[in-house]
Amino acid sequence: MKTIVIAGGTDGIGKALAATRLEGGDTVVVIGRNEVKGKAFLDAAEQLGARDRAYFLPADLGLLAENERVLASLRARFPVIDTLVFCARFYRSERTETAEGLEENFALFYLSRYLFGHGLADALEGAEQPVVVNVAGPGAGLGVVRWDDLQLRRGYHGGAALGQGGKLNDLLGVSFAERHGDRGIRYVLIHPGVTSTSFAGEYDAGTLGQIAAMQAQAKPVSAALPPILAAIDGPPAQALSAFVEGTRISVERSGFDRGAARRLEEATEQLLRDRRGAPRGAAPEAAPGIDLS
Ligand SMILES: NC(=O)c1ccc[n+]([C@@H]2O[C@H](COP(=O)([O-])OP(=O)(O)OC[C@H]3O[C@@H](n4cnc5c(N)ncnc54)[C@H](OP(=O)(O)O)[C@@H]3O)[C@@H](O)[C@H]2O)c1
Repeated sequence: MKTIVIAGGTDGIGKALAATRLEGGDTVVVIGRNEVKGKAFLDAAEQLGARDRAYFLPADLGLLAENERVLASLRARFPVIDTLVFCARFYRSERTETAEGLEENFALFYLSRYLFGHGLADALEGAEQPVVVNVAGPGAGLGVVRWDDLQLRRGYHGGAALGQGGKLNDLLGVSFAERHGDRGIRYVLIHPGVTSTSFAGEYDAGTLGQIAAMQAQAKPVSAALPPILAAIDGPPAQALSAFVEGTRISVERSGFDRGAARRLEEATEQLLRDRRGAPRGAAPEAAPGIDLS
């Protein structure tokens, strides 16, 4: 049986995955902000007789301090983690900054995944078939990245923020595989296709209309699970793989450029150094550590 951590496991694809793996006998940790959804997961686990294998960690993963707090708790409670799944995202039609002064999409959709992957690599290395499953939108070209304005201060659009976030996660996969591939950890990027989930977000009227149209065409959540389950149960042999709706795409094409991945990693490390050195002025006080005992 595996230990699976699902960031964004309280709703949508992450929630369905959490329920499936709990039913299958795994230990499942879900992370999200909404305590009601978290309690529903724990209640369902109770019904299943699996309460001792179910954990809910309330956290806003858009905040660096919250990521650090959750990572510390996970490392303390789970010396070995088999599977790490990224499903957290939140669409915003208007550009918004976190209390720590970072653009929300960049912080949640990319930076949190960066911190979690590298921050739990030691725990993953201890597993028999360790895998990171990054559910995002692999495959776009590098043109969607605004290298001189990664936090989209100029000309923000919610769709562009999501598109760039997907590309940054592709490049994160490339640099993660370079750094940790020889430790046996597999990194799998998965585009689930348009799926009927909560599409959590704050939408303007125009985008709301588009979302309603997408929802009408979208596949059920259960149809998005098989490629994710396949990656968990039989991680690919390659350090990095990418799939769009279950079909493998090449990670040798230009969208997975190693130079671009190193450039992004350097920019990210610099940003994190700057943030950690900076006084936490406007940031909220970190909540107390989570007791997972
Ligand atoms: N659905 C699609 O059509 C589609 C298409 C392409 C790619 N994807 C990718 O698939 C993944 C899952 O998408 P989905 O549609 O299943 O998402 P969803 O239904 O909108 O659920 C999003 C999850 O993220 C969590 N979340 C949002 N903001 C958070 C924050 N600040 N801190 C912590 N957790 C947060 C939510 O939990 P709380 O509400 O508890 O905070 C929820 O569990 C995403 O990475 C998405 O990019 C989806």
